[in-house]
Amino acid sequence: MRTLAIVLGGVGAGGLAAVLAFASPSPQAQQSQAPADSITAPVISDTGSLKGPRQPIFFRHDIHAGQFKIQCQYCHYSVDVSPEPGIPTMQTCMGCHLVVAGSDSSSRTEIRKLRELWTEMKPVEWIRVHFLPRHAHFPHQRHIKALGPTACATCHGDVSRMPQVFKVNQVDNMGFCITCHVERGVSRDCSVCHY
Ligand code: HEC
Ligand code: HEC
Ligand code: HEC
Ligand code: HEC
Ligand code: HEC
Repeated sequence: MRTLAIVLGGVGAGGLAAVLAFASPSPQAQQSQAPADSITAPVISDTGSLKGPRQPIFFRHDIHAGQFKIQCQYCHYSVDVSPEPGIPTMQTCMGCHLVVAGSDSSSRTEIRKLRELWTEMKPVEWIRVHFLPRHAHFPHQRHIKALGPTACATCHGDVSRMPQVFKVNQVDNMGFCITCHVERGVSRDCSVCHY
């Protein structure tokens, strides 16, 4: 238990609750300690049928953000202060996964891949799902301030229920941006987005 506390020293409240729920000895206890409004992520046997690009490690938002209710900002740490939301580093993952090894064979296999990369000191090469061409600029922080910290779903869909991230809206289409800017009376000057 002491090791656990030390390893998890940097983990935020939501994350800690998640791990403690997971680390409890019996599956029943695990269930009863899961946050009340969390979803139960389904068991997935056919990953080939999931939408979105296949990632090098099968990292599931429906488990982390849905079932264990880890805040988006715990991992996408700069979303309200910078144009780039931030992709979590290995350290963020390993704060939990030095301890959490997985409860079934498929999660153990995926977590083992993560631990191997950690040992080799290699980052995970995630495949990007949403991106704009270089001539267009999208500042996350401005949108989060105006639309609120839970506005992610407006553009990305309900990621907390996605086993694998896929594109819900055509965020990489100028019309998508302009439609909302018109509705909300935000500037449509070309130079706002193109510079
Ligand atoms: C706050 C704690 C926490 C953090 C941070 C965390 N995880 Fe997890 N992770 C868990 C828990 C709890 C489970 C559920 C384990 C189980 O029941 O098998 C899990 C399961 C997994 C699994 C197996 C199930 C699945 O998703 O396919 C993988 C792979 C995984 N995590 C990868 C990652 C990666 C990569 C990161 C960093 C981007 C990360 N985790 C960050 C707690 C965490
Ligand atoms: C435990 C860490 C963790 C948490 C919590 C988390 N994410 Fe992520 N997120 C990742 C990682 C790692 C990736 C890159 C791999 C992937 O696409 O699955 C990612 C990718 C994404 C992407 C796709 C990025 C792209 O390539 O375009 C979106 C959108 C996203 N997350 C939104 C969210 C939202 C919204 C929440 C909260 C509901 C959330 N994330 C919670 C770790 C996390
Ligand atoms: C108004 C629409 C909108 C909202 C709201 C929004 N995003 Fe995004 N997101 C985008 C667009 C557009 C991109 C592609 C940006 C680019 O290529 O520069 C993106 C890209 C991302 C990426 C990939 C970044 C990378 O470096 O790989 C992540 C992760 C992400 N968003 C997370 C979030 C999270 C978490 C929230 C909520 C806190 C959120 N977004 C809210 C539109 C949005
Ligand atoms: C769901 C609504 C919505 C969508 C979709 C949206 N925006 Fe915005 N955007 C806003 C709001 C609201 C503001 C005003 C923020 C403020 O007042 O600071 C804003 C502000 C901006 C700004 C700063 C404007 C300034 O005056 O400095 C830029 C740049 C921007 N958006 C680019 C984009 C791009 C690029 C896209 C598409 C990828 C996009 N937005 C999609 C709602 C949206
Ligand atoms: C709110 C943000 C925003 C504003 C304002 C905006 N654009 Fe765009 N524009 C984008 C985004 C995002 C893309 C990239 C996606 C695409 O090609 O549709 C883009 C793409 C383009 C393209 C390339 C299309 C292609 O097929 O490659 C041109 C040309 C363009 N914009 C011109 C303009 C002009 C001219 C204005 C002013 C009248 C303007 N844009 C205003 C966001 C914006």
